[in-house]
Amino acid sequence: MQLPDENIEYDYKRLLAPPAESWTPLAELQAQHFLAADRLEPMRAILNAVRGRVAAERELQNPPPELLPLQAGFIDGPQKLLDSFRRKGDASELGKLNRVAQRLRDNTDRVVVLGIGGSYLGGKALFDALCHTYHNELPRNLRIGKPRLYFEGNNVDNDALADLLELLENTCVEPETPEERWGVVVVSKSGGTLETAAAYRAVRGEAAKYYGIKSDWLKQLIVPITGPKGKLRDLARAEGIPDDDILTIPDDVGGRYSVFTPVGLLPAAVMGLDVRALLLGAAAMTKRFLEEPFDRNPVLQFAAVNHLMATEAKKTTRVMAVYSRKLESVGFWYDQLLSESLGKSGRGPTPITSVYTRDLHSRGQQHQDGTRDKMINNLIVRTQKHPAVLVGMSDRNEDDLNAISRRGLPDLQEAALHGANQAYAEAARPTADIILPVLTEHTIGQLLQMLMLATVMEGRLAQINPYGQPGVEAYKRNMMAILKATPNLPKGEVRDQAKGV
Ligand code: PA5
Repeated sequence: MQLPDENIEYDYKRLLAPPAESWTPLAELQAQHFLAADRLEPMRAILNAVRGRVAAERELQNPPPELLPLQAGFIDGPQKLLDSFRRKGDASELGKLNRVAQRLRDNTDRVVVLGIGGSYLGGKALFDALCHTYHNELPRNLRIGKPRLYFEGNNVDNDALADLLELLENTCVEPETPEERWGVVVVSKSGGTLETAAAYRAVRGEAAKYYGIKSDWLKQLIVPITGPKGKLRDLARAEGIPDDDILTIPDDVGGRYSVFTPVGLLPAAVMGLDVRALLLGAAAMTKRFLEEPFDRNPVLQFAAVNHLMATEAKKTTRVMAVYSRKLESVGFWYDQLLSESLGKSGRGPTPITSVYTRDLHSRGQQHQDGTRDKMINNLIVRTQKHPAVLVGMSDRNEDDLNAISRRGLPDLQEAALHGANQAYAEAARPTADIILPVLTEHTIGQLLQMLMLATVMEGRLAQINPYGQPGVEAYKRNMMAILKATPNLPKGEVRDQAKGV
């Protein structure tokens, strides 16, 4: 059901250096910092070979040690979920997820989503990109059955969590009133992440105090999402949550590749997004990746261009310049994907997310004129959802805007994009565009899958294992060791809160 006019594209033509015969000082500079037009030609065979290997990795039952860890389940995951939904309906994983989401939507007005890293950034990206910009501020009747969502458990920020608990205490006083009921989605694949586990204790304690320790709401409105085994699953079972209401993250899908498992899909369903369209977009991108030649394959194009820019042109800082503030969290999601996948053994590009035009007034100076270590990928949405907000005519023209009075904000945005691209090209600063025709579940599904597949391709091209994140373990070990080496006592004043239950 792929809609051809909704295909996303990658346009990298601007960063191809001009042919050698057309010499100018600028062409010389561009030759140093852009890609030689013929550099991509020999890459095609390499890309095809690497794509073949990535495709074959999906089938490996006993991967060789040098490929471990291998978590290629995300590649076919979206199509498998769709197929099983078609065959088994309500009895499928998606059917179960819809049922749990519907229960949260029917019975709560607020949902707290706890999780960190890959167990949080995907859901937050979907929320920010696809829900109303002021979703949580909308009155209930305008949210039409969609609860407010809060993302926590992604830090150990005492005051942020205390503020959330205080908000729940002050706004929810009557648990039998649906408008004052709240639920919890707790996400941890390993089940042992301290930030999420500590926040869950506090939030669960608050829920037990609110609903009553024996209340059935505790079982109905707390939804754990976790791996097949682990402490969170054990805890959920001990708390009496039925097995059927614990959603599972498949073993063969890594945390930052898990947005199209219940990790991202349950929050998406709770916020009323079209989960099928997300999965169709992702599945369509996998198909394009596996079947299309380089010229029609944004995964291969993005992987090749960004790999060459990082490794050969030494553009080791990769900027995702999002031309919509609704996409900032997609940028943060990609920051994590790239950092944890390729930042290994002293290598890997450093990601930065910038929102344009906002950050043209801050990082813009650096991008235009600073260290020549940057590759900028613009993320552009061609068509806006709302009719244009016009500049408009005014009797008072001291601000001198009457000359552009019939232009709308999309016109200003487009002028900013072309203006920035031109300025960067004239300073030999490489840029390319990821183009979304519209911002929908279907295009976001394509985009996230494209970036995950491209990251795996880049890892394989650079001989860096894109799965696993051994570097994250050191701080976790130290943190726990420090806590256990000192007395089990709090520092300073303690909040008056419910005991862990
Ligand atoms: O990509 C990853 O695997 C990590 O970022 C994890 O998602 C993150 O560390 C959270 O882990 P968990 O889901 O086990 O709590």
